[in-house]
Amino acid sequence: MRTNKKDFVFFVGDMAMNFRTISFDGKTVEVLDQTLLPFKELYRKLSSPEEMADAIKRLVVRGAPLIGVSAAYGVVLSALVHKKEGITGLRKGVSGDIKLLAGTRPTAVNLFYALERMENILHCDVNSLQELVHLLIEEAEKIHKEDMQMCSRIGDFGEPLVPDGGVIMTQCNAGALATSGIGTALAPIYRARENGKNVTVYVPETRPLLQGARLTAWELSKNGIPSTIICDSARGLVLKSKKVNLCMVGADRIAKNGDTANKIGTYSLAVLAKENGVPFWVASPKSTFDEKIETGQDIPIEERDGDEVRKIAGKRIAPSLPVFNPAFDVTEASLITGFITDKGIVKL
Ligand code: MRU
Repeated sequence: MRTNKKDFVFFVGDMAMNFRTISFDGKTVEVLDQTLLPFKELYRKLSSPEEMADAIKRLVVRGAPLIGVSAAYGVVLSALVHKKEGITGLRKGVSGDIKLLAGTRPTAVNLFYALERMENILHCDVNSLQELVHLLIEEAEKIHKEDMQMCSRIGDFGEPLVPDGGVIMTQCNAGALATSGIGTALAPIYRARENGKNVTVYVPETRPLLQGARLTAWELSKNGIPSTIICDSARGLVLKSKKVNLCMVGADRIAKNGDTANKIGTYSLAVLAKENGVPFWVASPKSTFDEKIETGQDIPIEERDGDEVRKIAGKRIAPSLPVFNPAFDVTEASLITGFITDKGIVKL
């Protein structure tokens, strides 16, 4: 089922956004289909864990924090589907669906963080099936609420780093579309704007799936923030021009030593920033820090279908030859100025 919601204003925390990435009505999960942006603003209703796994895999919902929230609701959909099978049947069915959801995208640790929390609830002591379903819904809604709050806090902590008249370069989309709140890397920018500062953003298109050109530029313009889209290959020239005050990106997983996995192209942006003396900030909630991983070398990097590179918007632009299509890369901690987290700023 699909719904169209034009001129939709939604309050995330204390800020108005003109769209809502995800919501749950007690029976189904409604998501904004990000594969169709910026041309169509279409909301899809999902009612099974298979539909949610497919949505995560195909990037209908995407961005590390939103993947985590979506997976938590995927577990709720599973519980609703398996409710008729009794407590033992429900636990067995949901465990299988947790494995399905865990197999969708390997890099963002938020997916595993959310699934682990849901799995803990699944196995806790309860008096009835109704209580178990209720607790699962409660936990997913808690994960959702925490995500919105952490975005707001990242915005508060990061805002002072954004100068009035500041120019910022980002990569991919780490904005409201990548979360259920006001974003991570874009949150300080939204806050700065709210506080009356003028801010402009350079948005690299972010091949192959163009999350910069399609998504970041779209959400910034929807929220009144001027931006300039550039080819990924123009980032060096723009940084060399000394027009950019700072780079601000999100993260999919951060190792114990600070090495950070984020969208492909983040590493080269960090190298270019260092070479040109531009501060390079990573904005990310504490839940993206993976205590189980020592260095970036141990972060699993998702490789996606070669057709994402051979084609643009479904149209073939390259011969049918082998393609290497890593979705993420790792930026060493030595290239990062610091982290803007929901608990405060950590300078490296
Ligand atoms: O493949 P995507 O679109 O899910 O990649 C998203 C990113 O790389 C974001 O920068 C990252 O998830 C941080 S989101 C707040």
